[in-house]
Parts: sequence; structure tokens; C-alpha cells
Amino acid sequence: MSLKKINPTQTKSWKKLLKHFESIKNKKIEDLLGSRKSPVKFNLVWDDFIIDISKNIIDNTTLELLLELADECNLGDAILKQFRGDSINETENRAVLHTAVRTFKKDSININGKDIIPSIFETREKIKRFTNNILNGNLKGATGKPFTDVVNVGIGGSDLGPVMVVEALKHYCTKLNTHFVSNVDGDHVFEVIKNLDPETTLFIVVSKTFTTQETLSNANTIKSWLTKQLGESSVSKHFAAVSTNQKAIKEFGINPANVFPMNDWVGGRFSLWSSVGLSISLSVGYENFSNLLLGANKMDEHFKTTKFDSNIPVVLALLSIWYNNFFKAETEGVIPYTQYLNRLPAYLQQAIMESNGKSVDRSGNNISYQTGNIIWGDTGTNSQHAFFQLIHQGTKLIPCDFIGFKKPLKKENKQHDKLMSNFFAQTEALMMGKSEKQVLEELKQTDLSAKEFEFLKNFKVFSGNKPTNTILIDKLTPKSLGSLIAMYEHKIFVQGVIWNIFSYDQWGVELGKQLASKVLREINGNKISSHDKSTEFLLKNYLSNS
Ligand code: F6P
Repeated sequence: MSLKKINPTQTKSWKKLLKHFESIKNKKIEDLLGSRKSPVKFNLVWDDFIIDISKNIIDNTTLELLLELADECNLGDAILKQFRGDSINETENRAVLHTAVRTFKKDSININGKDIIPSIFETREKIKRFTNNILNGNLKGATGKPFTDVVNVGIGGSDLGPVMVVEALKHYCTKLNTHFVSNVDGDHVFEVIKNLDPETTLFIVVSKTFTTQETLSNANTIKSWLTKQLGESSVSKHFAAVSTNQKAIKEFGINPANVFPMNDWVGGRFSLWSSVGLSISLSVGYENFSNLLLGANKMDEHFKTTKFDSNIPVVLALLSIWYNNFFKAETEGVIPYTQYLNRLPAYLQQAIMESNGKSVDRSGNNISYQTGNIIWGDTGTNSQHAFFQLIHQGTKLIPCDFIGFKKPLKKENKQHDKLMSNFFAQTEALMMGKSEKQVLEELKQTDLSAKEFEFLKNFKVFSGNKPTNTILIDKLTPKSLGSLIAMYEHKIFVQGVIWNIFSYDQWGVELGKQLASKVLREINGNKISSHDKSTEFLLKNYLSNS
């Protein structure tokens, strides 16, 4: 069954929220902090996560109305349908079951009359066996040497999830070095392979469709590099593949024993839990990979079974809607205070923006309200010295998620308190700002002249009242990382449900792909056909220089 088609702006709660917005928009978070009353929750404590949402421009009524909106948009029904395997991705007539590939229960889920659960467990076993055989040296390269390096060849969802997780879990890494090749830019692939030994390198070609230009070009480049050095027969030992397209994999010459399935009911950007995560398993070992799934699965259970007022993904999604649709904030920052999560913002950009960057509703009508947020960010404290100025004193409202961990991973790390003091200080500074009175007090302690004093004071005032969510987790482990990623996945879904859009298709990326093929044919044929004036000028210039 499909998702209900409800225009959120026509609901009673939306109208009430509009009215409520007028009464709260200029209030100070600092004052709101004191006015809030139980039972509404402004701190959510779950497993080893604390989610503090109190530094937001919200009061009891805001949360109550947002929760009403979730109910009016039939969120409960949508969650049920997603987990049950209904074809909620209507434009592609597919179920959305990334949650199934990380389940540990054997309860059946039927797609077209077939229970998909047994095959999920079989694939997991295959990932485990393959990982162990590579790590213990049972599987070797064509010249009999054990593997030392793994290269994941994929793009988008077949790259960003694995690369983010491998980077995040570096502390837990096995003896294998893991590399990633994604861009169709040939310099990328050659830069990666230039220092690799073909005899000890395993290449995993990851492509759901096995038709993606970038991935196939890189895979073919690598294949000729490899076979030039080790001969044609080396392909079967040095290549593995993850795809739904078994025919294309066969044509490429990959040994069927090294082929891992994907299914059309797992979207690319939600696929790191499936065989797409093979490079993760190799990089951190199967047990850690399994714990990653376990953490995600725990978050799934939380999302599925917890009342909305204590449901982390639901509450975070509603707050995001509050700023996006009422305050008209266009972007959201994600600031992890650990260098290990430096690829999280890039990963979330695909997950969030490819999912919710839609302007047609589920009935096919153009939308008259804002949808998908623009996501950006970088790690703290680096970003404090880069773009924080704009968040503190710029003209735009940028709600941010601050993600921090109570414990560091390296026992010799004595700097963790310094890192975390910045983490806490920044959200406090963003909320409190600095008043003119405080600035004047501070300037009085200096020996500035009256003129300098007068001139400087306005530049030093911070208006504050910048909203943040604090996500404080015990420690960065495979399990907590799994929960964190799943938290954002469900947040995306909730927002899509409320905005009445389809979050699991991505038609918008197709047009550019089609045009690129046409342009490539023209470049190869050295003949530019009709384009707009600007593109024609650029292409002619490109050809005249090549
Ligand atoms: O960019 C569009 C997209 O289809 C993504 O959704 C997907 O993750 C990526 O391309 C790669 O696709 P594939 O895994 O089929 O190579």
C-alpha cells in the first residue's frame, strides 16, 4: 500500500503552527529555557545517546503542535508501511527495506510473494566468509600473495557510505589498507593505484545498476592496469563485485564466487548495510561490521516503537521542519567533534539532499512550500576556524547539529577535554551571544580611546539565539555509529512523509547523465551539434585545444 497523500500546509496543526510562530519567533532561547514544563521532553536519553534539544527556539506548544502535525500527516501509518515492505517508493514501484538488511530477527518480510529474510542472512554469511578468508590469507592474489590493500570502486551511494564508515572506524581497522575510487576523473584512479602492488590488491566494483559511467570507466581502467601486469586470468582473483546486474558482472569477467547481490528494495544511498558494505567489513573485520548493523537495528526498533515525543528521529525531523518551513532557514550544519567523522557531512549531503530535494508532491503536483534542506558542515574544532564566523554573526539562521563523544578512542589522548570544552562552549556561545552591555564591560578593561571604543563596540556584539541540537554519545564505536547513521536515515524519511514527497527516488540526477553521454559522443566525433549558445561556445573552445 502507498503512503497517504496529505498536503501538510492544509492541516490544522500547520495553521496553528503559523500562528504560534508569530508569537515565538522573536523570543530568546535563554528565556524559553526557563519557561518549559514537563511532560514535554527537551532532553532525550536513549541507549548511550543524549539528545539535547533545549537550545532551540521552541516551547511546549511548539513541540506539541509539531507532534500534532506528525499525527495529522499519518506518520505512524507511513512507518508501519516502510518496515512492512509496502511499495512506498511509488515512482519506481519498489519497497524500501534498508532496515531489513540490518535486522537480526528472522520474521518474514515478503516482496512479491517471496520472503527476503533468508537471502539477507545468506548474504551476510557470505560477507563474513569472504572477509575472514581475505584476512586470514586463505584467499590470495593471482601470484599466491595475501592481500594487503582493498579498493572500493563505486560512486554516490556505492561510495559515500563505505568511505564515511571506513574513515569513521579507522581506529578499529584490520591489517588491510582500504582505498576508494569514485570520480570519472581518470587522475583520481591513477592517483590511487600508483602506489599499489597489483599482486596484493583486491578491487571491489560496487554498482547497483552496473551501468554507471564513472564506476565502469574506473573498473575498466583498473582491469587493463592489472591484466597488463598479471595477465587476463588475474581478473577472477583480484576482482569482486556488488550489484543487482548479474549479467553485466559476468560480462566483465568477475568470478561468481566473488559476486555479492544487491536488491532493488535497498536504495543506493541507504545501502552501506548491505553487500555494499563489503569494503567496511574488510576494513574493520566482520564482527565490527555486524556491530554497525546491530547499532542501526537498535535505532530502527527505537524509531518503530517509541512514542513520537521521545522518538529521536521524529523529534529531530520536526525541529528541522520548524526551521525550514516557518523560520525559512535554508541550510543546516552538521558539526561532528571527532576527526573520524570528517566524511559524515558529505555522506549526509547525498542521503538528505538526494532524498528530499523534490518539488513535486506525492500526487504529482508542484509544491508551494519548501522541502529538502541544504546540508553542510565539517569537524569541530577545524570548522570553528573556518565558517563559524558566519554562523555566529552572519545574517542567516543556520540550525546546527553538534555531535560529540564523551570518551576518546586513543588511550594516550590527553586532549579530549579541550576538544569537548569547545563543543560545549560553541553551542552556549551560539545561544547566548554577547550583549552590548557585556561588550562595554569588556572594552572598559582596555586602554582604547573613547572614539575607538565607540567604533568597535557594534562589531563585538553577538546577537546569539542561534539554535543547535546537541548529540552526545558515549563513545565512537561501530554500534554507536550504526545508530547515529540510522537516526539520520529515519529523520530523512519523517521529513519526506510530512512534506508529502517521495524520498526514495532520484530522477533529478538523470538529465545530466543523459546529456553527458550525448556530449561525449560529440567530443569523440569531434563534431558539436546544436546546444545553447553558451555550451556551444565552451565545447568548441574545448575541442580546439584538445
Ligand atoms: O547519482 C545517482 C545514483 O543513482 C545514486 O543514487 C547512486 O547511489 C549512484 O548513482 C550510483 O549508482 P550505482 O550504484 O548504480 O552505480
